[in-house]
Amino acid sequence: MNVVAISGSLRAKSSNTALLRAAQRLAPGGLRVALYERIGDLPHFNPDLDATAIAVVAEFSAVVKAADAVLISSPEYAFGVSGVMKNALDWLVGGDAFVHKPFALVSASPRATTSRAALIRTLTAMSGRLIEQASITLPLLGKDLDADAIATHGEYAAALRSAMLEIASVLATPAP
Ligand SMILES: Cc1cc2nc3c(=O)[nH]c(=O)nc-3n(C[C@H](O)[C@H](O)[C@H](O)COP(=O)(O)O)c2cc1C
Repeated sequence: MNVVAISGSLRAKSSNTALLRAAQRLAPGGLRVALYERIGDLPHFNPDLDATAIAVVAEFSAVVKAADAVLISSPEYAFGVSGVMKNALDWLVGGDAFVHKPFALVSASPRATTSRAALIRTLTAMSGRLIEQASITLPLLGKDLDADAIATHGEYAAALRSAMLEIASVLATPAP
């Protein structure tokens, strides 16, 4: 099973990206998690443009479509979803890449509740299927932990491993 992980932060030392990389390391056998690292290269969304004619947009859409599930982690900026994440999602809205797609939303900050709710609303409006049990929040804000430190932290690693097992279990169960 293939999971595509998407971080809404472009920061080199992003806690959200570190969280996704830790999840990648803790995924059970049979669940391959790949980080999609090019959402910062997507142009600003414009419905006038032909998404299929823009290579990076077509690539992003194809990667999401081919994935069995999507794992998202995104910072909150000014009580909203990060612009880079919202822009990426807007490119998917007109197509079928996200329709019925199982997704989990992991969060690196317990404070980011407004953007978390907004993201869930957007992703379910896009017909994604939220994997609630895998959508966990870890208190990483301000701790400056890299992926290795998260993946080897007893409490954080256990929570992340359970979340990844939950994704594997949902994917192994036929959709209703
Ligand atoms: C411009 C700006 C606005 C922010 N606004 C919020 C906010 O409204 N709510 C919040 O919880 N955190 C806010 N933060 C904190 C970020 O969400 C936090 O630093 C987060 O860890 C960044 O994610 P990253 O480590 O993956 O880059 C803001 C940070 C910046 C730089």
